[in-house]
Amino acid sequence: MNDKNPSDIAPILKTVDSSAPIAPAKAGGKPRLLIVEDDEEIRTQMRWALTAEYSIATAGDRANAVEQFRLNKPPVVLLDLGLPPHPGTPEEGLATITELLSIDRTTKIIVVSGQGEKGPAMTAIGLGAYDFVTKPAEMDELRFLLKRCYHVAHLEKEYRQMQETLGGGAFEGLLGSGARMQAVFDSIRKVATSDAPVLVLGESGTGKEVTARAIHQRSARRDGPFVAINCSAIPETLIESELFGHEKGAFTGAHAQRKGRIEQADGGTLFLDEIGEVPLPIQVKLLRFLQERVIERVGGRASISIDTRVLAATNADLKKGMAGGTFREDLFYRLAVVQIILPPLRDRNDDTLLLAQAFLKRYGDENGKAGLVFGADAVRAIRAHPWPGNVRELQNRVRRAVIMSEGKRIAPGDLELEVASGPTPGSTLKEARDKLEAEMIRASLARHAGRITAVAAELGVSRPTLYELVDRHGIQRPE
Ligand SMILES: Nc1ncnc2c1ncn2[C@@H]1O[C@H](COP(=O)(O)OP(=O)(O)OP(=O)(O)O)[C@@H](O)[C@H]1O
Ligand SMILES: [Mg+2]
Repeated sequence: MNDKNPSDIAPILKTVDSSAPIAPAKAGGKPRLLIVEDDEEIRTQMRWALTAEYSIATAGDRANAVEQFRLNKPPVVLLDLGLPPHPGTPEEGLATITELLSIDRTTKIIVVSGQGEKGPAMTAIGLGAYDFVTKPAEMDELRFLLKRCYHVAHLEKEYRQMQETLGGGAFEGLLGSGARMQAVFDSIRKVATSDAPVLVLGESGTGKEVTARAIHQRSARRDGPFVAINCSAIPETLIESELFGHEKGAFTGAHAQRKGRIEQADGGTLFLDEIGEVPLPIQVKLLRFLQERVIERVGGRASISIDTRVLAATNADLKKGMAGGTFREDLFYRLAVVQIILPPLRDRNDDTLLLAQAFLKRYGDENGKAGLVFGADAVRAIRAHPWPGNVRELQNRVRRAVIMSEGKRIAPGDLELEVASGPTPGSTLKEARDKLEAEMIRASLARHAGRITAVAAELGVSRPTLYELVDRHGIQRPE
């Protein structure tokens, strides 16, 4: 660089020294700084004074500032408030703040304001400027301020990067960088802004509930309640009052009036989990609610209007339910205005490892075991495993591994996975067949939460045969 020595310049700035760089160095050299100042002399002074530490761009008005800002992407901007065409007032400077922050809201703007002009400086801070100094700028003070500013900008950037790596493309708590999950994120984005009912489909543990929460979080109802009800967990006799509430004395044991889940979700989102398990008479009532948006509490006569968005989920095959007469078609079409299908983990390719790493980091930190890594054979085992219990299974296995692991390296055994999966060279046909049989049964059991009848139907064997196979392979049924 052929910059002139700072001391060649008339001292408008009080102290000029060329001490060693104080701001954290950028990969490509000095950190970038944009100086916006209409007075050419001051602008030049500042440039010389700071050129040893920063890579400086300058501008004399708003248009130029925006152009330079876009070009250089400086993390910090020094901005004079009085800019042409009205250098006597702060308007242009304030407008510049708004414009720069709208381009990049993480930018740190330090305002340089005239003596006794606290008012505009405070307005600038209100608009999002980071700090201010008064003219003439005291060089040591300015250096200190800049140093602190870059430090904060640097920390914030590191934090954002950490969040991103941790997330690997996190989306409202959902991880996934593969095409299948990106498509799911797209759907969530699209449906979130509408009030349409959404049916979330997927095997057990694929993330149906987190998806429902993500839709709520991204919707205009995010400040309202998110009320989830697991329809399979409630006895048939109680489900109506659980959903619709009841009046005092509606039935034995109804000692007081109680609001149901639907009413609790007023102004927010209602999540009907395991919708396939809702008994037919309740399906009729739900349908009526979806059509008319009013409910009556059990034992009550008043119609209560409810404003809630309805999301539902199931891992059951509702088409089969409709064919078999256990699920109402009209309710299905009301609920399934939009469907989001979550792919099983075994179809998500590299996401499995991404999720495994993220869980390892999370549980490692939680358990005071930071820095754990998967050994190469653990990575192979994770890749090979079919993950019948999907993300939940992965999460549980990694959590367990973190607790059980002794060294820094997680072994397949810590995950309770076999070292090499899949047909190993040299295995007999019978061994391969047994292995596949066991894997398929495990997967189906996980999909159907251990329900033998459903598993037997899916695999095309009788219940007694299935029991025998489960025994023979020493398979544990999920509880
Ligand atoms: N993409 C993902 N990223 C991070 N965590 C996930 C993801 N998907 C699911 N999980 C986690 O896995 C667990 C299971 O998710 P969730 O409860 O949403 O699944 P589900 O489909 O509702 O399962 P079930 O059918 O058993 O009710 C949760 O702890 C959730 O946080
Ligand atoms: Mg669930």
